[in-house]
Order: sequence, then structure tokens, then C-alpha cells
Amino acid sequence: MSPEGLLPKGSKFTSITGDGMKIGVIGTGIVGRSHAAKLALLGHEVVMGTRNVETTLGVHERDMMGNPPLKEWLQGHPMVKLESFHEAALHGELIINATRGEHTLEALRNSGERNLEGKVIIDISNPLDFSEGALPSLLVANTDSLGEEIQRAFPNAKVVKTLNTINARLQVDPDALMSGDHDVFLSGNDAGAKQRVTEILRSYGWKNVVDLGDISTARGAEMMLPMWVRLMGVLQTPLFNFKIVR
Ligand SMILES: NC(=O)c1ccc[n+]([C@@H]2O[C@H](COP(=O)([O-])OP(=O)(O)OC[C@H]3O[C@@H](n4cnc5c(N)ncnc54)[C@H](OP(=O)(O)O)[C@@H]3O)[C@@H](O)[C@H]2O)c1
Repeated sequence: MSPEGLLPKGSKFTSITGDGMKIGVIGTGIVGRSHAAKLALLGHEVVMGTRNVETTLGVHERDMMGNPPLKEWLQGHPMVKLESFHEAALHGELIINATRGEHTLEALRNSGERNLEGKVIIDISNPLDFSEGALPSLLVANTDSLGEEIQRAFPNAKVVKTLNTINARLQVDPDALMSGDHDVFLSGNDAGAKQRVTEILRSYGWKNVVDLGDISTARGAEMMLPMWVRLMGVLQTPLFNFKIVR
């Protein structure tokens, strides 16, 4: 996708605050890359975090989904810097968690508790368990969620769960799906943090932001994943989304 294709029609190359924010993206998969590219395009200063920079840059093959090795991707996105989880979290005034759900808590611990203190963490992860095959179950559900686990592990951070029910490409470009008139959910305990995240979502082009309530409502958003995965099987594409009709 061209960088221009990531911008909603009519959007400006300015950030929500007018100045670029410092953002730490924890995670180098397709979700981390999509947000890093979009946020850099919107004028933010983005550092992406990985476990080990040398190891990550030493990968020369495409991944299972056909995505290019990160070294090649970074050459096409010179505005994005790659550092360790710790350095990326230190850099960010706002943090995006885009790590594999089963390792999210470990990745955030490695980011440094002090580096997360007082900061908004946009949590996009899903607690998917692939141990029984390609159709995942959830590692945590019903009475708890990964969003809540993160909030408990880092009580001084402001966790906002969002976008986890949407494919990475659509997360940062909702207009790629017809009119963009479809819904994104939001859960979190802090009203100010949710407002900041809503502004970022709007800068991506999201119009319908549904605030589900406190972070315990992340249970519902995460439990949509078994449905999402099955819909992808039926529709034969990840480019779809939920829309609430009243
Ligand atoms: N793919 C989508 O469209 C989509 C949509 C909605 C939500 N999500 C959720 O978003 C998150 C990211 O998804 P993704 O597809 O971009 O990539 P992913 O493969 O699920 O996660 C990649 C990241 O996880 C880190 N990681 C893997 N194993 C680790 C370990 N043992 N310890 C610490 N960190 C580890 C990797 O670190 P390194 O950088 O060191 O390799 C990498 O940064 C997931 O939770 C996923 O469920 C994905």
C-alpha cells in the first residue's frame, strides 16, 4: 500500500495536538508496522520496539504472511526508528501495544514499568491460543481479559483497549472499506485517556467510536475474536468489520 493510501481523504499531515507526539510502538508485526507508518505520516515521532534489534534486523526472509523482513520495511519507512522495547517505551509519551497476546505482559515488563507510568497504553493485542491449531481459542475470557491483566500489571498506566476486532490494514485506514461507516470499540477506566485515543482514531479516519465502558468491557471486545476468525473463514478475506445497527 502506498503511504498516501494510508491517509483518509482530506486529512492533514498534522498530529492531533498540532505538533508531532512522541509515540512508542511496542511490536514489529503487521499491526506495529501499520500504526508506525500511519503515525509517522500524520507527523508523529515514532520509535518501534522489538526484543532484540540485532536479531530482528538479521532476519532476511518474508514472514508466514508474506510481509517483508523488517530491515527492508524500515528502508521504505525512514521516519520510523527501531529500538528495543525499553527504548521505544522510554521515548513514547503514548504507547501502543502490538505484541503477540501470549507474550504481551512479558513484552511490557521488558519495556520497563517506569517507562509506562502515567502514560496511555493503546492495547490492540488479543489473547489468542493457537496451541490446538489454526482456529484459536482465548487464553483469558469471560471473567477477565488481557486488557484488564495489563491494567492490573501496570496500575499507573492508562490502558485503553481498542481496534483489536479489526484487521491491521483497516485499523489505520477505515475508508479502505467502502464509506468507513463501521464501528470501532473502546474500553478503559480513564475518561481523558479514552478522549486522547478517540482523537487518534479520528485522525486515522474513524467516525463511529463506541465507548463500551471501563476496562472490564475489554472482555466483550476480546471475546469477539472467535467470531471474527470464523467470519474470515467464511468471507475468505480479513477486510471486513462489525457495524452496530439500532
Ligand atoms: N494481525 C492483525 O491484523 C491483528 C488485528 C487485530 C489485533 N491483532 C493483535 O495485535 C497483536 C500484534 O499482532 P501482529 O499480527 O502484528 O503480530 P504478532 O506476530 O502477533 O506479534 C508480533 C510482536 O510480538 C512480539 N513477540 C513475539 N514473541 C514474543 C516473546 N516471546 N516475548 C516478547 N515479545 C514477543 C514480537 O517481538 P519481536 O519484534 O522481537 O519479534 C513482535 O514485536 C496481537 O496480539 C494480535 O492478536 C492483530
